[in-house]
Amino acid sequence: MMNFNQSLKLRSGVELKNRLVMAPMTIVSSFHDGIVTQEEIQHYAKRSKGLGAVITGTANVTDNGKGWAGELTIATDEAIGRLSELTGEIHEAGSKAILQIFHAGRMASMKVTGEQVVSASGVAAEFAGAELPRELTTAEISELIEAFGQATRRAIIAGFDGVEIHGANGYLIQQFFSPHSNRRTDEWGGSLEKRAKFPLAVIDRVLFEAEQAGRPFAVGYRFSPLEVTEPGIQFADSLWFLKELKKKKLDYLHVSLRHFDRKSNALAYQEKSQLAYIHEILAGEIPLIGVGGVRTKADVEALLENAELAAIGQQLLVDPEFPLKISGELTTTPVEKPFGKAIKDLPMPHPMFKYLERRYQ
Ligand SMILES: Cc1cc2nc3c(=O)[nH]c(=O)nc-3n(C[C@H](O)[C@H](O)[C@H](O)COP(=O)(O)O)c2cc1C
Repeated sequence: MMNFNQSLKLRSGVELKNRLVMAPMTIVSSFHDGIVTQEEIQHYAKRSKGLGAVITGTANVTDNGKGWAGELTIATDEAIGRLSELTGEIHEAGSKAILQIFHAGRMASMKVTGEQVVSASGVAAEFAGAELPRELTTAEISELIEAFGQATRRAIIAGFDGVEIHGANGYLIQQFFSPHSNRRTDEWGGSLEKRAKFPLAVIDRVLFEAEQAGRPFAVGYRFSPLEVTEPGIQFADSLWFLKELKKKKLDYLHVSLRHFDRKSNALAYQEKSQLAYIHEILAGEIPLIGVGGVRTKADVEALLENAELAAIGQQLLVDPEFPLKISGELTTTPVEKPFGKAIKDLPMPHPMFKYLERRYQ
């Protein structure tokens, strides 16, 4: 059995003191312009002890990529100053700091961005109230790839130890890979290979920037292994994509799952969990972060049978000292909440509640 207290040195040289990471979770508390607030800094500082790394809630790389009010931004140099305070606090608590970067694409809203939402193609997402996106031009696609590079440059200046490219949960990067949202007939759409081109180009641009850091700087990639829409990303598509991702000099892959033990919907892949299939394909060449439903020490240990790192989300919201408790540094008992109830019990009103409930419960 993997001991979660073992350290892990990533390809870039960034060293994690143990196998526990905070799952990226927006707390929708940034200023109207996306600048991190004191409340958010305190939120992370309180939860950074006993973790190998904190992955922040997602930050938009351009203004039109903002998904909701209160979201972090990394779209301008003005964001760097306050984010440096955030990395300072996380480091003070002894953890590495990773910034998650994204563009919401068609999951954004005109009410938030002030303009028509954009995506790979002009196809709306399948939820009530989803807006019809405008198809991105090829020039805009190049600008967006550059924006991910600039976001990485800013994260380096702000003192982060890495960035996580958010290619999951239905946002723009996934929208390019998905046959539902990507109906393009140019070089950016069509075959599986062409739909993978945008995510891979973003990865290359971010890795290039990371190499200029002059210090170890990690680049991770988060993905969702399947979509339930018709058409949608099939589990087999994701297994193919993983082989492409393996060719990149990524520090880790992070699979977004509601529960780490969940099986796929594909008849051909029923023998084990999605996490187990993915771990097998990676064959130890890139560390894998598993996530979803970790509430106890036993869950952490079970997850680590099929991953190198365990991400903890809602449990850290309700029990900020959970990592210290399960490692024995604190003798108090971890808070136990039934799975799915954690967000409801949060002390703060969460405007993301309905959205999150649909997605993660
Ligand atoms: C309040 C909240 C905010 C979230 N925000 C993000 C986010 O910004 N980026 C992301 O990739 N996932 C986000 N997630 C998903 C989590 O990273 C995680 O995958 C999910 O909560 C399942 O793990 P858990 O059962 O340990 O909470 C969020 C989840 C919650 C509960």
